[in-house]
Amino acid sequence: MKQALNLPQVLSDAQAQVHADLLSVIDVQDWPDVLKQAVRHAVLQGGKRVRPALVYATCQANGHVLNAAARRAAVAVELIHCYSLVHDDLPCMDDDELRRGQPTAHVLYGEANALLAGDVLQSLAFDVLSSQHFDDTDVAPNALISLQQVQSLSQASSHMVKGQVMDLAAETKQVAEAELEAIHVHKTGALIRSAVRMGALAAGVVTSEVLTDLDQFAYALGLAFQVQDDVLDVTATTEDLGKPAGSDEKLQKSTYPSLLGLEAAKQRAVDLHHQALKSLAGFDERADALRELANFLLERKA
Ligand code: IPE
Ligand code: IPE
Ligand code: MG
Ligand code: MG
Ligand code: MG
Repeated sequence: MKQALNLPQVLSDAQAQVHADLLSVIDVQDWPDVLKQAVRHAVLQGGKRVRPALVYATCQANGHVLNAAARRAAVAVELIHCYSLVHDDLPCMDDDELRRGQPTAHVLYGEANALLAGDVLQSLAFDVLSSQHFDDTDVAPNALISLQQVQSLSQASSHMVKGQVMDLAAETKQVAEAELEAIHVHKTGALIRSAVRMGALAAGVVTSEVLTDLDQFAYALGLAFQVQDDVLDVTATTEDLGKPAGSDEKLQKSTYPSLLGLEAAKQRAVDLHHQALKSLAGFDERADALRELANFLLERKA
């Protein structure tokens, strides 16, 4: 993706951290070659790594340096996200042949192996999340934090699937704006909200007001992110996106530009972005990385 050169430091640092951590959990797996290759392809070939960056930045906003619980959560949410992309691109879903500037997993490894790679990514995510990975000591991880993270990510994963089902059912239909918002909040917003929640949990946050503010931030940001994804499908090039531009129109997807028009969809993304930032009003400068990420996401071109 061409955008890669203009990344804020917070995102490029997150990319390096999560790449190393993903590599370390994938390479030790005793899988048949084709499965390992398909998984490596799906996970290690670029990607903005927005969700891991949100985990780390939320942990930091709550006064913690990067810890093992945040690193496990970042790996786990990115694995779930990569699985969702592999399945999203399958011929029975969006039928796309380009992802992150490369042929999609099913093009290279066949549909069955792509399906199975998605399946194993999902299992691996929860394996890592409930493990002692990245803990330097023999001290067992805080079991309550791990359990709450597992619950957050498993619920978000099932919300993502629900959103994907709603997305497919809304093809070739005109849906009301509330329905479209529900699709986006589920298929994309849920994992973004879980990333933020798991980052807060990793920092030991238990105060419900703080968790609520962060959830409102993540809700607005997650919705803005998918509105922007819809806008870019219309306005950006395949080269910049690293995935086929115009895919939504081809499939007659229900999107914000198709429902509201392009300009109103762009404005909706801006409004949601402001709404997201307002939810962070009670946080001090330690939340600046979160603010910076939100700003980058609105301005992104891919
Ligand atoms: C694409 O997500 C799919 C959506 C949920 C909108 P990203 O835009 O985060 O994709 P990568 O990980 O950077 O490739
Ligand atoms: C993706 O929505 C949502 C998930 C993968 C869960 P899209 O279908 O719009 O994502 P892209 O545009 O193919 O990345
Ligand atoms: Mg889709
Ligand atoms: Mg798609
Ligand atoms: Mg899209």
